[in-house]
Amino acid sequence: MPDTILSEYRRQVDGFAVVDFADEKKVENLRQQLDVDVPLDLHWTWDYAGGVEELRALYERGKKGQWNAETDIDWSAPFPREEWFMPREGALLMPSLLTAMGADEGTCREAAWDEFSHLMSQLLHGEQAAMQLCGQLTNACPSMDAKFYAGSQVIDEVRHVEVISKFLLRKMGQLQPIDPTLKILLDMLLEAPTWKMKTLGMQTLFEGMAVGIFDTIAKATSNPLLRDIIRRVQLDESRHAAFGILSMRQVVKESTPEELAEMEDFAFKILEALNANQQLDMLRTHGAKYGLDPDNVVQMALSMPEWAKINSEIYMHTVVPNLRRLGLITERTEDAYREVGILFGDRFEAKHELPIAN
Ligand SMILES: [Fe+2]
Ligand SMILES: [Fe+2]
Repeated sequence: MPDTILSEYRRQVDGFAVVDFADEKKVENLRQQLDVDVPLDLHWTWDYAGGVEELRALYERGKKGQWNAETDIDWSAPFPREEWFMPREGALLMPSLLTAMGADEGTCREAAWDEFSHLMSQLLHGEQAAMQLCGQLTNACPSMDAKFYAGSQVIDEVRHVEVISKFLLRKMGQLQPIDPTLKILLDMLLEAPTWKMKTLGMQTLFEGMAVGIFDTIAKATSNPLLRDIIRRVQLDESRHAAFGILSMRQVVKESTPEELAEMEDFAFKILEALNANQQLDMLRTHGAKYGLDPDNVVQMALSMPEWAKINSEIYMHTVVPNLRRLGLITERTEDAYREVGILFGDRFEAKHELPIAN
């Protein structure tokens, strides 16, 4: 089993090694690390004719599927602070907890607002990282087909950064800084050394997590503006997912057993560390305002009999089934995934068919 990362930020809660940043100064330092040294192999290619028909077709589909985040969204549509845009219970952590504790509706709604703007801000920072990593792929990928496609995905990710930042600034009035755990993990993905590792980070880990989270929001929200934004982003993501499957199959075919083992370990380490935070970064930022003690919340969650089933949902949506299908979760790592509540049960089919763009 691969070693875990972020060991200097770990502590034990009921036998579970959580990642927790209690030192605000360290958090601020992490956020101020704006320059990242990234190894990048640049490849020329003289084969302009293109060889992979499916990739060219996907690129053509991408050109037709472009939309304008400024003019195609009805920005005059309301997103009122005094209305529920998600179910009060079951969708977000703080309003669910506060409801169970008997808090009044206004308090629960305010907690939902804070938690959701926090989540959307983290998605926004993730989109910025996706944009940057996709830019790297246009340099690093060896074939012209992959360069064409990665180049077109850059503009999709730019649009996602644009639309989510406009939603946060115009409609929620708050854009929150990046969580420390996320910053470290995104840097690790951006720093991945080879084009194969970069493709794994971008197309399987990034895209897999994004598809799961966006689909969960799209299904839960009752607000038409938010639904429209997420639906449009999902249309782009459906192309990215298709590219991801094509390119990762190729990568796996071309990799040595050593490279595959390295990828399997890398994927586990990233997902394990992400999961180990257990929303502590969010709770450290917002919990106190609602009288929620982060340690108590995590302890309570971990002691629930159904914890692993609930906790694994977001991972079992797309990222784990995809890793498994690619042969990047094998007997060697499967138990470790189960132990930390990322992999649960034995159903590995995709939870949801992405909408097809054009
Ligand atoms: Fe995106
Ligand atoms: Fe994407």
